[in-house]
Amino acid sequence: MAAKAIPRLDGRPIALRPCRRKVLFVGSERPDEFAYAMRLACQGHIVAVVNPRETAAARAYRTDGGRFIQARIEDLPLRFGQFHVICENYPYPYPLALGYDVTRAFAAARLERLAIGGHWVVFSESGRLATALADVARHEAGVRRRFRLQFSELSSALAPRSAYPLKKTRYRLMFQRLR
Ligand SMILES: C[S@@+](CC[C@H](N)C(=O)[O-])C[C@H]1O[C@@H](n2cnc3c(N)ncnc32)[C@H](O)[C@@H]1O
Repeated sequence: MAAKAIPRLDGRPIALRPCRRKVLFVGSERPDEFAYAMRLACQGHIVAVVNPRETAAARAYRTDGGRFIQARIEDLPLRFGQFHVICENYPYPYPLALGYDVTRAFAAARLERLAIGGHWVVFSESGRLATALADVARHEAGVRRRFRLQFSELSSALAPRSAYPLKKTRYRLMFQRLR
């Protein structure tokens, strides 16, 4: 990302370096999700999208130079390192995923990819998934010590669009890694 020069009061320029973030999109399928990822990449951020399912929008994104990794986040190679932001819209609320151990593993696969200070932002229509994730944040000592959770219920107009949710309810969970 190019540094911008702004004049100081004494007339000499100082270079402003915009903050470059590493951003991971998990489970993206839709053209608008890829358009957002591409916008961030064009602003100079380091962006990757991971999904075992490759949609036409994913192929178009890759053709346009975007980094799409056809894999589960659990299998994302470690060389990708940690991310400042992980965005995930509407993970499947599998009945199985609502069991405590599976939800804990689901959360761990995302939380362990966060850099200190980083955020995992997940939207879901499922109150059961949102509650199961909040339970993990509350009951796991390591998660409680190292992460802060902000939990909100939103109107669907304020949440990302998707053809998947059959309900109108929307939850946003934002985990921030503190240490
Ligand atoms: C319900 S769809 C949501 C798609 C899209 N984000 C949306 O909002 O319409 C869930 C997506 O998550 C992907 N997915 C499932 N398990 C995943 C995993 N372990 N890592 C990354 N993506 C996963 C699926 O392939 C699917 O594309």
